[in-house]
Amino acid sequence: MNQDIYITGTGQTPFGEHWDLSLKDLMEQAISKAIESSELTALDIDFIIVSNMLGERTNDQAHLGAMASAMLPHRPPAIRTEAACASGSVAIHTALSLLESGRAETVLVIGVEKMTDVPTEEISAALMGAADAEKDIPSGLTFPGIFGLIANRYMYEYSLTRDKLNIVSARHHENAVYNPNAQFQVKIPAEKVSQSATVADPLCLLDCSPISDGAAAVILSTKHESPIRIVASQMSTDTLSITDRPSLTSFPATKDAVERALEEAQISREDISHLEIHDCFSIAAIINLEDLGYAIPGQGIRLYEADNSMPSINKSGGLKACGHPVGATGVKQISELTAQLKSSNERYALAHNFGGAGATCCIHILENSNA
Ligand code: COA
Repeated sequence: MNQDIYITGTGQTPFGEHWDLSLKDLMEQAISKAIESSELTALDIDFIIVSNMLGERTNDQAHLGAMASAMLPHRPPAIRTEAACASGSVAIHTALSLLESGRAETVLVIGVEKMTDVPTEEISAALMGAADAEKDIPSGLTFPGIFGLIANRYMYEYSLTRDKLNIVSARHHENAVYNPNAQFQVKIPAEKVSQSATVADPLCLLDCSPISDGAAAVILSTKHESPIRIVASQMSTDTLSITDRPSLTSFPATKDAVERALEEAQISREDISHLEIHDCFSIAAIINLEDLGYAIPGQGIRLYEADNSMPSINKSGGLKACGHPVGATGVKQISELTAQLKSSNERYALAHNFGGAGATCCIHILENSNA
């Protein structure tokens, strides 16, 4: 980064089913919490970026920038970003560019999604907007279907057993017990994962991130200091369709973005103490750890087999157990890691958020100057 950019406020609604709250209510709650957590007033915010994927499809609502701006007394300029499940991290990436350029000094990023008001079939169809409409949709694929194919291939190439795959979701559920904002604050014994209903063979219900409502907000500033800074922000893309990829068992956009982020932060991956990774499905978590360079191909599961892995992985419960309101997820990861760095007093944390089957990937690295 060519500027010091501080995380000066964070706020999150609980993730889950919020039938009594509108998209607007969720945004208002997260924004208020972020402002209350900071030493700023609303008037210090000079730009807003809203992250959301499905507003038009699930809530008949677009134009979320103006909606968020009207929540502040001085109505600062506001835009919306959309990059499927990576919408939140792309919003952060965009905010950092505004701050680096000097166009803004304090930016509020608010990620929001309200998915539970429509039936699962409708959400599954809407989420397929993240894939290739010409290639993937006509073949009848859904995202559980796409990751089911990926899981099958990975198990074939690396002899990963179904029993071992169970450990991933079990660990994320165990972590979520300690997160009051998580959708599922319950432990799930590993064997229950493969005993849950098959969704897209070999993936079962408990391999999947859920359908969620929720919002998360962060305030980023070059003017108002705090101990936590963002020291790297890198984005990389790939083809929308998995049929255009040479391999199903790795996401090159993650590899590219993480190398550039580590170089930007001038650290090595061993310096990082906390990871929040994009575990939209259990198999994705394993592949992500390999693409991030923490394990060689085929060995990602080993980090889950260890009792206490270093770095910590998805202490929030990840997408699986904390929930995955898609537009909010990338923002929640930054808010979560800010809290994790403060409470552990460790120095570095890394957020990995992707959209579709790894077609947009953003990596952010956070540094705690008190550590
Ligand atoms: N993990 C744990 N529990 C879950 C769950 C999940 N992923 N999804 C649903 N449940 C629970 C519900 O809370 C409910 O419990 P209850 O009976 O105690 O109330 C029960 O399972 C049935 O829920 P329901 O809403 O009927 O499930 P569903 O069959 O409609 O949806 C999935 C289940 C897995 C199909 C859906 O969660 C899904 O599509 N997930 C993937 C979302 C996705 O693709 N995101 C984008 C990633 S790229």
